[in-house]
Amino acid sequence: MSQKKEGMVIEELHIRLLDKAREAMTNAYVPYSQFRVGAALLHESGDIYVGCNIENAAYGPTNCAERTAMFSAIAQGAKPGSFPAIAVIGHTSDPIAPCGVCRQVLVELCSPDTKVIMGNTTGDYHIMTVAELLPGAFTPASLQKEEQQ
Ligand code: THU
Repeated sequence: MSQKKEGMVIEELHIRLLDKAREAMTNAYVPYSQFRVGAALLHESGDIYVGCNIENAAYGPTNCAERTAMFSAIAQGAKPGSFPAIAVIGHTSDPIAPCGVCRQVLVELCSPDTKVIMGNTTGDYHIMTVAELLPGAFTPASLQKEEQQ
């Protein structure tokens, strides 16, 4: 495939993921913020796991759309590190930015080069990698203890 054609196929995939994320927004449970967010996580098999934000009267237990999609994928047997891309979308003027907690969860369960496609409902989007979204992250490797003296 030519480089141009390959670029177009990849772009189509990103738009398909954004469309799936947008569909998932309709399932958001947002009685407190009324701010719907949707996510669509691509597995290396081609399967897509969706998520939406689910709020709680105690506020703290609220789960963002990105984490709902990730946790749903893992619960259904997908393996950490097997996700080439995740799309997330909200009614924001600029493409939505994942919160810090979600960035930390993406670092744990994705690869550093997993693409995060951030969009809004007016059709703007931009793409960064997981590593770019959380530089200097605390990772599983950070837990390795120093040699005992
Ligand atoms: N939210 C997400 O689901 N994902 C994000 O990337 C940002 C914020 C949710 C959490 C809460 O339900 C609402 O948006 C307002 O913060």
